[in-house]
Amino acid sequence: MFRVSLPHLLAAALALVHAAAAVTASSPSPQGVHLAFGRDDDSMVVGYMTLGKPEASVVEYRLLDDGPTLHAPGVSSAFVDGGDEKLVRYMHFATLRGLRAGAAYAYRVGDPGSSNGGALKSLLETNAPRENEASFSRWFAFRAKRSKAQVTPSSPLSVLAWCDVGHLESKSAIRAVVREIHGPKGPREYAPGSENEKKNEPSLSVAEIAGKKKSVERETSETASVLAFPDAMLHCGDLGYDLDSSDGRNGDAFLRDIEPIAAYVPYMVSAGNHERAYNFSHYKARFLMPFGDVRAVGVSDVRADPSRGVPPSFPDSKQHDNHYYSFDLGPVHVVAWNSEAFFYPQYFDAAYADRMYEWLAFDLKTVNRSLTPWVVAHAHRPMYCAESLNSNENGFTKCDAEKEAARLGIMSSCAGDYAASSCARGARDVDRAAAEVVVLPRKRLPVLARTQKRNARSWNVERLLYDHGVDLAFFGHVHDYERYFPVFDEAVEMAGVTTAASENDIPIDAYFQPRATVHVTTGSGGNKEMLDARRVAKEALNGTAYPPTRGRCADVVGSHRAAPWCAFTSGFAPKASRGETSDFTFSRFVVRSDAVLTWEQVSAGDPSDDHEGRPPLVIDAFTIVAPTHGAFARLGPRRDAAAFAAR
Ligand SMILES: [Fe+2]
Repeated sequence: MFRVSLPHLLAAALALVHAAAAVTASSPSPQGVHLAFGRDDDSMVVGYMTLGKPEASVVEYRLLDDGPTLHAPGVSSAFVDGGDEKLVRYMHFATLRGLRAGAAYAYRVGDPGSSNGGALKSLLETNAPRENEASFSRWFAFRAKRSKAQVTPSSPLSVLAWCDVGHLESKSAIRAVVREIHGPKGPREYAPGSENEKKNEPSLSVAEIAGKKKSVERETSETASVLAFPDAMLHCGDLGYDLDSSDGRNGDAFLRDIEPIAAYVPYMVSAGNHERAYNFSHYKARFLMPFGDVRAVGVSDVRADPSRGVPPSFPDSKQHDNHYYSFDLGPVHVVAWNSEAFFYPQYFDAAYADRMYEWLAFDLKTVNRSLTPWVVAHAHRPMYCAESLNSNENGFTKCDAEKEAARLGIMSSCAGDYAASSCARGARDVDRAAAEVVVLPRKRLPVLARTQKRNARSWNVERLLYDHGVDLAFFGHVHDYERYFPVFDEAVEMAGVTTAASENDIPIDAYFQPRATVHVTTGSGGNKEMLDARRVAKEALNGTAYPPTRGRCADVVGSHRAAPWCAFTSGFAPKASRGETSDFTFSRFVVRSDAVLTWEQVSAGDPSDDHEGRPPLVIDAFTIVAPTHGAFARLGPRRDAAAFAAR
């Protein structure tokens, strides 16, 4: 259910006016600059958009504190929005190669100008001056992917994560993440000094020496700030609400919103239900993930690393379409898949699910755990829940059918915008589904598979996570934060639990050598369904609002309703009538060693509060200690839910 307040509507109108003004300019100026890891460890993909058609696109880059200026040509493609106006945008991607691991780089993007590619050719061959300086972006900076050896306990891997982040709804969360990356003053200009200035070292006066020293200190400070950036940011679906809204203008605005983040830190995404328009075309056009497609120059061979073997059936990258991919980052193998493949049969069929599942199984099976002991996974729809709604015949509580469909990989029975959830089917549907004709939950839904027989197959994604020992999996879609105990097949799995009588009644060693994947729902980056304090005050209390309800699931959800796997939640299903607000949050996880990973959930503050000068608040933290990694079955017989409940 949507509740929209007047201030919210006004903000929406203003934002659309702003977005419209930007798009009518038809400017070739780059906007929405964002980074992504490339297929190779020494590469980085730079993406951006122009509204006008440039002569060419290029990324100009160099080591921030030294070295020659280099240029990487971009590949440009026209993207036509599917809306009524059929607006055309130009998407540009360039791959920077041969980067020095962990080094700080400055870069900018733009059009070198001239016709027939002459200026671009000149740039690439001779570093000649640009003809069209004005069409370049500002200078950004990034840290190239670090090698595993560069990740140490004193310089741990640091990754930010969030899901469900809007253009209009997430200003506090975006502000908090920008602060996390750049500090309270925000991004600085990383323009490198002239090379000639560095080379020509005439005798200097005292004042000049002082100025030079100051300049060096400034550069050192700039480099230090870049080297302190998080290693990556992961966004598990629902981007901008929605990328295609207002004929894509909302997506343009969202990419501009996150530019202070994504132009500095590799921004790795997975698709959510809000990216579904026109077969996820905005998602696929605006981002380029590893395995994505061949738009990036030189990315023509997207087969798996030969050292890991060739996957069974991946003739070309177009099958991935940005939807499922993986990469290594220090001691972590990160893998993403498309949870929406099970919810939109108008776009995805059994053959697609086969392909994705086969790829996921291959990818997880071939992870070298001695190189990347940690495996972290993300997709949009969660497999677990805070509140159990259903009971099966054995009396165990269960999450709803949508969670079960995401967990077990069960195709929805019907297609239709905003109706995917109601079409989700649970495991029992599959058990008795053979040869049944599709039964429509709502007659008015547009259904493509009306005459198809139900697909009795399923693609048990959770089983893959368990069999291959995925340590951590996080999702969004539900607009709160929920932390779970290690769980598999709706049974809590914990080894060596010796105490449940700590102060919070949470076993203190719940995350020591987990016997199953630790799931997290972190879907509260900002959505219009979420209640901020101002809305609560206006809609319900007409006075001071209360902070979000946080704590043990048993306390927040109610002991009789809380799912046994749910450990902690913040912002769960707030009700304005009770003075409850949502919690706008993001996540960070830090990997200190092959055995220690700490997750922190950070409250960004209320959108109606500018929280100037106050750092974001860590509202929850847990540490997974896993001296060994791999298939969970190696740890011995499973503990079933009944045994855990009786403990
Ligand atoms: Fe969603």
